[in-house]
Amino acid sequence: MKAVHKVPDLRQALSGLNGTVGFVPTMGALHAGHLSLVERCRRECDVVVVSVFVNPTQFNDRNDLKNYPRTPEKDLALLEGAGVDVAFLPGVEDVYPQEDTRRFDFGPVERVMEGPLRPGHFNGVGQVVSRLFDLVKPHRAYFGEKDFQQVAVIRELVRQLRMPVEIVACPIRRDADGLALSSRNALLNPAQRKAAPHIYRTLCEAAEFANRKSIPELCRWVRERIDENPELETEYFEVVDGRTLQPAADWKGEHGRYGCVAVRVGEIRLIDNIKLC
Ligand code: PAJ
Repeated sequence: MKAVHKVPDLRQALSGLNGTVGFVPTMGALHAGHLSLVERCRRECDVVVVSVFVNPTQFNDRNDLKNYPRTPEKDLALLEGAGVDVAFLPGVEDVYPQEDTRRFDFGPVERVMEGPLRPGHFNGVGQVVSRLFDLVKPHRAYFGEKDFQQVAVIRELVRQLRMPVEIVACPIRRDADGLALSSRNALLNPAQRKAAPHIYRTLCEAAEFANRKSIPELCRWVRERIDENPELETEYFEVVDGRTLQPAADWKGEHGRYGCVAVRVGEIRLIDNIKLC
């Protein structure tokens, strides 16, 4: 594996490799969720490139950026073990030699759920992912369904910019107790960590009610159920269409119905989702 930090070194490392290029962008503090993307990429592509970059432009909260876990040495060891060809760990000045002033409009997919609650977040994701795609020029790029709305935003980004990259969405990896793996889980204190699996348990219970309760009834039920736990506070729970991500009015739809949730656990925000029907 070649680990590179600078754009010219990335170009040089890539120039010596042939075949389909697969790319997994990450912000590091890698866990088995990230590695599942890397493994799938390894199976499906000739060349595997992974980036580790905590992108400042997608953080709408200064403290979140400051506290975001950073474990570069451990990340490199994991990537080496996963058979990665090129690990790209740039600095801010390498990704943004000049300030990125681009403003995207991703339309309806960014106007729901995370969009209004994290102003500028998806714009920053669009900036960094388009910049990384320009540098790596992947044939395929792998994203996790844990960030369900992010996948929809990225699909819209490549459509708008006409980028020739196939977006591959991969299933959510969970801990044994059901908690969706996330770099932010490392920030939970023991009581919070113990409470957090209640989120996924509730989503599983909610899936049993699909088609049986009305959607507004289910939304109310999930919120109340999660908030029964004193460590947890639901920010939103929405039942959305699997393609458009718009709130669903009924249970019928070609692309399925997904329950998407954001929960505050102290200072930390966790998101999760489940296919309801
Ligand atoms: P990060 O949170 O590091 O996640 C990198 C990729 O791993 C994302 O596609 C995310 O959805 C996926 N992922 C995280 N947890 C997962 C899990 N439990 N199961 C499956 N996949 C999981 O998402 C970002 O970084 C950034 O926004 C990024 C796209 C890199 C742009 O900066």
